[in-house]
Amino acid sequence: MSASAADGGRKAGAASAEDRRLGTWAPRRPTPPIVGGEGCELIAENGDRYLDLTAGYGVCCLGYNHPAIVDAIRRQAERLTFCPLNVSSAVRAEYVEALAAVLPATLDRVFLCNSGTEAVEGALKFAALATGRSRTVALRNSFHGRTLGALAMTWNPAARRPYAGLLHDAVFVQPEAEAIEQAVSEETAAVVLEPVQGEGGVNVLADDLLLAARRACDRHGALLVLDEVQTGFGRCGDWFAHRHTPGLEPDLMAMAKGIGSGFPLGAIAYGGRVAEALRPGSHGSTYGGNPLACAVGLTVIETLRNLDLPARAATMGTRFADSLRSRFASNPRVREVRGRGLMIGVVLRERAGRHIARLATEHWILALPAGPNVIRLLPPLIVSDEELERGAEAIQAVLGGE
Ligand SMILES: Cc1ncc(COP(=O)(O)O)c(C=O)c1O
Repeated sequence: MSASAADGGRKAGAASAEDRRLGTWAPRRPTPPIVGGEGCELIAENGDRYLDLTAGYGVCCLGYNHPAIVDAIRRQAERLTFCPLNVSSAVRAEYVEALAAVLPATLDRVFLCNSGTEAVEGALKFAALATGRSRTVALRNSFHGRTLGALAMTWNPAARRPYAGLLHDAVFVQPEAEAIEQAVSEETAAVVLEPVQGEGGVNVLADDLLLAARRACDRHGALLVLDEVQTGFGRCGDWFAHRHTPGLEPDLMAMAKGIGSGFPLGAIAYGGRVAEALRPGSHGSTYGGNPLACAVGLTVIETLRNLDLPARAATMGTRFADSLRSRFASNPRVREVRGRGLMIGVVLRERAGRHIARLATEHWILALPAGPNVIRLLPPLIVSDEELERGAEAIQAVLGGE
């Protein structure tokens, strides 16, 4: 714990010039301005250190300022920071091979972009082109991003309402096998799913639901798009969350967040029918596959592999979830602890917001909400058992009766 914060030295709560300029004034910012990071911690300008059990929205899978990432950026920056797409790039060529090696064998092509919403948006375009259809089926409680196509498939009605009439045609169904089967038709271009819904509440989709979506797509000539933006790159205890469901093969997969561990990078993987439909120029991105992003992406894959982090996330996540379950077995505030790997939700019988705020201001621990009543934990995959224990103790302290 830091003395300055204990003294009440934080500046949280005030509308900063940054907030006003960006139009994102948040009345209860939990920390003073952040100026640095190390491992699983963010460091504030007054020296306070915050244990970030969200890895920055699930982005920094290798934590903050991982030496291998810093080194990769430095080395690549000295060589070349941008390379146009009309010439070939050595680091891009190396990266797409490395990426293909961790993807499902059926998805042997990749499109590189810069964020999650771009990956979903591109996947939608590809599905429309390959099927000649534009309707998509998405799930209640889904989150796919904020650009027009991705937003159209994002469940939260408050996020979509201001754009009513401007978004493309998405049908939302309950996350149930039968509901998906009924919604898919000859007009459906794609069914779009997160294998574990993040923003919507850390909902692990059941194998039978995922396989029913696959079958429904096959029956009607639609495509299955998996949004692994939050769940991919080791987060859920395997390279991709859908690998926990034997026999599940997507037609398209959207990736971002962990793929660049903090560097803006996204990708769409595809194969077969989609590859046949795409032509040079079907889609594009000036910055997609830039040398810095590719150098970082390579380092992320190498580090995940060298440290066996996807498997480690499975063991650590199970231990952490068990520890949370035993702490809350008789706590009336907690309904359940659920999740997969190091993507964990503590589901409350009440709203989660004030508990998350107290975690930050009283315990220097960052957590995220997921839906109204879930505390979402997405620690960096390099997190230690001690850090997870510290987190569990703090959550117990804020939930343990007042
Ligand atoms: C499942 C999922 N898809 C898409 C996105 C959008 O990603 P980005 O914020 O990088 O555009 C997010 C972001 O939280 C996400 O969790």
